[in-house]
Amino acid sequence: MTNIKLNIKGSNKFVFAKEIEKIQSKIMDCQNTVLNKSGKGKEFLGWVNLPSKTEKKLLDEIISTANKIKNKAEIFVVIGIGGSYLGARSVIEALKNNFDHLLKQRENPLVIYAGQNISEDYLSELLKILDKHDYALTIISKSGTTTEPAIAFRILKKHIENKYGKEDARNRIIAITDSSKGALKQLADKENYKTFVIPDDVGGRYSVLTPVGLLPIAVAGFDIKKIMEGAKLMEEFNLNNNKLDENPILLYAAIRNILYLKGKAIEILINYEPKLAFFTEWWKQLFGESEGKENKGIFPAGANFTTDLHSLGQFIQEGSPNIFETTIFVDKPENELKIPESKENLDKLNYLSGKNINEINEKAFQGTYMAHVDGNVANIVISIPQINENILGQLIYFFEMACAVSGYYLKVNPFDQPGVEKYKKNMFKLLGKH
Ligand code: PA5
Repeated sequence: MTNIKLNIKGSNKFVFAKEIEKIQSKIMDCQNTVLNKSGKGKEFLGWVNLPSKTEKKLLDEIISTANKIKNKAEIFVVIGIGGSYLGARSVIEALKNNFDHLLKQRENPLVIYAGQNISEDYLSELLKILDKHDYALTIISKSGTTTEPAIAFRILKKHIENKYGKEDARNRIIAITDSSKGALKQLADKENYKTFVIPDDVGGRYSVLTPVGLLPIAVAGFDIKKIMEGAKLMEEFNLNNNKLDENPILLYAAIRNILYLKGKAIEILINYEPKLAFFTEWWKQLFGESEGKENKGIFPAGANFTTDLHSLGQFIQEGSPNIFETTIFVDKPENELKIPESKENLDKLNYLSGKNINEINEKAFQGTYMAHVDGNVANIVISIPQINENILGQLIYFFEMACAVSGYYLKVNPFDQPGVEKYKKNMFKLLGKH
């Protein structure tokens, strides 16, 4: 059994049963097209079977490489952008302690990121930190030619070689790239770096279950085998369930498309756990780059509640009526904390005494949900029992499959990103690249 529950009651006002019935066969066709690998972008459908096809040998090799890094580094720098970093970061942030960066006694290296911007201050400040700590790094780029990570790697390669000498530095650098193409592949071969391959048939934003996501996650101390087990559970579930009323992946894809056709062109992914903020960033890229093309697509936005109820809440409740929400709610926190009793009750909070914080969070969610549905903001709710490796694996596969099915329903190629090239062309021209 999978652990992900979908509740669409908050959309009943906007999406009718007969509308779902009407598109059921089309959605099922889209699922088939993904599974048969016969649609647009079919050369990038390797992710569909990654959970069942990834060999134990590869996972063991990733874990053993991660262990070597753990032995010599306090900090692990992940250099990459877009699909080459968001997956790893989303899982690491979801699993780690909220204040991990402040822990004095560390069991695992602190994972930090570079190459996801072109900020002179960011890189300069990073170098100053790396002067003071032992570190290792991975450079992740499928194309091997992306400017942001290439710049960061050039800077950090020089730093790490100066700090440790070329020989030791070589053992602190891991390249994750294409099997044969790109400048990074050539450089890694020439320098004899430990290298992991990104499969040809897996695109960047679908690559979290390859070494791209798995190596940094393993270095951070999390169980990548459990992630793959969770993803495999969802892969098998999806393979064996092709009706909308039995497969929440398909139902989610259907509801969001019906809402889109009714003018709800913005989907906000909501969480009530700050640890999931980066999962939203991964989800934004997945859906944004996959669907936003040919003047079509739902704009994927994100909000962290209750924090953003005090900033975006007003707009969602009463602003432009083109928004719907998908909420990920975690039923059970890892820790337990109750509101203490106070004799004086000066803060007038005694009505909450003895309650768990999560009980209050849940009531905040229910109150918000009711208010937003009343305000004509349709709601889809995804509940998960807790945050752990297995459930994150399930969730990743859930959204990857839903995104592919949704993209095919929209009649776009969910696996290309032609629009991303436009800014690069202009930037290269302005920089005088030949
Ligand atoms: O999803 C994608 O394909 C993109 O977001 C890429 O991951 C991103 O542009 C980075 O590309 P690369 O891994 O080639 O450096």
